[in-house]
Amino acid sequence: MAKSGKVLLHSTKNPQTENLRTAMVELLQKHLGTAVDITYQTKQAHWNVKGMNFIAVHKLFDELHEKTEAYVDDIAERLTAMGGQAHGTVHAAVENSVLEPYPLDLVKSEDHLRRLADSYAKWSEAVKAGIDEAEEAGDALTADLLTQVGRDLDISLYFLESHFQG
Ligand SMILES: [Fe+2]
Repeated sequence: MAKSGKVLLHSTKNPQTENLRTAMVELLQKHLGTAVDITYQTKQAHWNVKGMNFIAVHKLFDELHEKTEAYVDDIAERLTAMGGQAHGTVHAAVENSVLEPYPLDLVKSEDHLRRLADSYAKWSEAVKAGIDEAEEAGDALTADLLTQVGRDLDISLYFLESHFQG
């Protein structure tokens, strides 16, 4: 087991170099924390939203939660496949997430839609930077995973923003 900086790497026959794996584990740790954070930000909205369009947004938030929850597993397992040690707890997510804390007192559907749109846009921006970083480092597989996450995030953002655009 090697430890370079703060990244713990398990030995593996994965053909990527240790330097590359270290860089990608560090990159993915940030996205794992953000995925854990956003999946519960979305549940927070699902549980607390109120308003005339309650049932539609209540259900939409649950669908978005299910998508982001799937990324938690995809990102964690890409990270562990490269020999990394996943920091997947809620406690670790607070340290690693790129998002601002979600307010606990939001009620109205428009407030949740706008606030979630901010979070989805912020993660989308970080994912796009992560794709560039993975491509430049030479890890097409991590870039591909982040590309898939980014494409879904943009659709989720479109679903959220369509409630208050136009
Ligand atoms: Fe529910």
